[in-house]
Amino acid sequence: MEFNTIIEPFRIKTVEPIRRTTRAQREEAIKEAGYNPFLLKAEDVLIDLLTDSGTGAMSSRQWAGMMVGDESYAGARSFYKFEAAVKRITGFKHVLPTHQGRAAERILFGSALKPGDIVPNNTHFDTTRANIEYRGAIALDIPIAEAHQPNVYHPFKGNMDLERLEQTLREHSGHVPMVMVTVTNNSGGGQPVSMANIRGISEIAHRYGIPFFIDACRFAENAWFIKMREEGYADKSPMEIAQEMFEYADGATMSAKKDGMANIGGFLAMNDDELAQRCKNMEILGEGFPTYGGLAGYDLEAIAIGLEEALNPDYLRYRIRSIEYLGERMKRAGIPFIEPTGGHAVYIDARRLLPHIPWNEYPAWALSLVMYIEGGIRSVEIGSVMFGRQPDGSEKPAAMELVRMAFPRRMYTQSHVDYLAEVLDYIKEISPRIRGVRMVEEPPVLRHFTARFEPTHDGLLV
Ligand SMILES: Cc1ncc(COP(=O)(O)O)c(C=O)c1O
Repeated sequence: MEFNTIIEPFRIKTVEPIRRTTRAQREEAIKEAGYNPFLLKAEDVLIDLLTDSGTGAMSSRQWAGMMVGDESYAGARSFYKFEAAVKRITGFKHVLPTHQGRAAERILFGSALKPGDIVPNNTHFDTTRANIEYRGAIALDIPIAEAHQPNVYHPFKGNMDLERLEQTLREHSGHVPMVMVTVTNNSGGGQPVSMANIRGISEIAHRYGIPFFIDACRFAENAWFIKMREEGYADKSPMEIAQEMFEYADGATMSAKKDGMANIGGFLAMNDDELAQRCKNMEILGEGFPTYGGLAGYDLEAIAIGLEEALNPDYLRYRIRSIEYLGERMKRAGIPFIEPTGGHAVYIDARRLLPHIPWNEYPAWALSLVMYIEGGIRSVEIGSVMFGRQPDGSEKPAAMELVRMAFPRRMYTQSHVDYLAEVLDYIKEISPRIRGVRMVEEPPVLRHFTARFEPTHDGLLV
């Protein structure tokens, strides 16, 4: 007999208490934090869905691995274990550990871009965009049209628009040093990219003699979606699918804080010997010797084990299903979100939930504040605060106004998700009364991390 209930495929060995607070305490806490959820103290949060990055629970195997970490400065045993794990999945010749994903981006773009260059991607993540723009280059987003239609179903909404890719390479010959694709597409709703699309990007990029890099943060989740949704992959293992994804590429940037199942770490990997040498030189400048790259030996051990655990089918089934389940509850409650649900998060469509708040009063930001005040839930805006400011300093509305609830890996259980659904039901009820915010302090780069805000209406959000 096959039973239908999908359970958390682990038992809990260590617990960490979370603290309930009153609504009044949370109102005070968020005011003190300048109405910026990034500036809250984590202990004032009940359920923390700010990010799935580095926040997951490690397995007993990972903790055991950490105890045998080799802390040698050069040539540590833990590095070779890490390198072997990365090579087994990606097949890339050179593997450079980094302290997190953005360090891999900084090294890659610092070694390969010049001002005026263009880097196409389905959708650049904020750190990727910032690192490209810091080099004076242009981060070009070319997702398929469905990516901007939150209520339209498409099995691979993370796909890149291949016609636009080809057009870009034709029109900007000599100015596109690499093509990237982000799997899954975090800024576009955690949506997967199909194998056919990855193959297509690879074919076009290579026809123009341009290297193709994968932003691989959530490669295992992407592999699971391919297994579930793409013809010809149902009988393949997530590992085999991941290996095929990387076969089409020339390199990858990775934040091991996601599908590396670790609390810190990342890597840059590639086949090109000459580029790898330039990257290693830059790595030494900023990260450390190339066999540790800003990480402890025990971190390398945790990642080597985590990369493999992320591809476990029972784990992936539970993970993707928990998120889908929250989506089903929200659909019943009439809360608009990006459909279908993504791999690591549910993205509420604040533009549709709060049509009365104009984009320059940041509806998604306001919604995330109300979710904290009412339910102690921390989420993140992916909208006009994160993406509204243009490189020339002007402002324009982001393509979508989203609130992302990202799920840490192996951390929360079904009852946490039920609680969330209940809070969201209530928020739907009070949504017509939610008000916007104005920005009162704005830092020059990645402003969402530290900007400060005020409610637009008499200091009140609801
Ligand atoms: C798609 C994507 N790329 C890059 C990064 C940057 O990784 P890190 O936070 O480890 O620097 C992230 C982090 O959230 C991401 O989601």
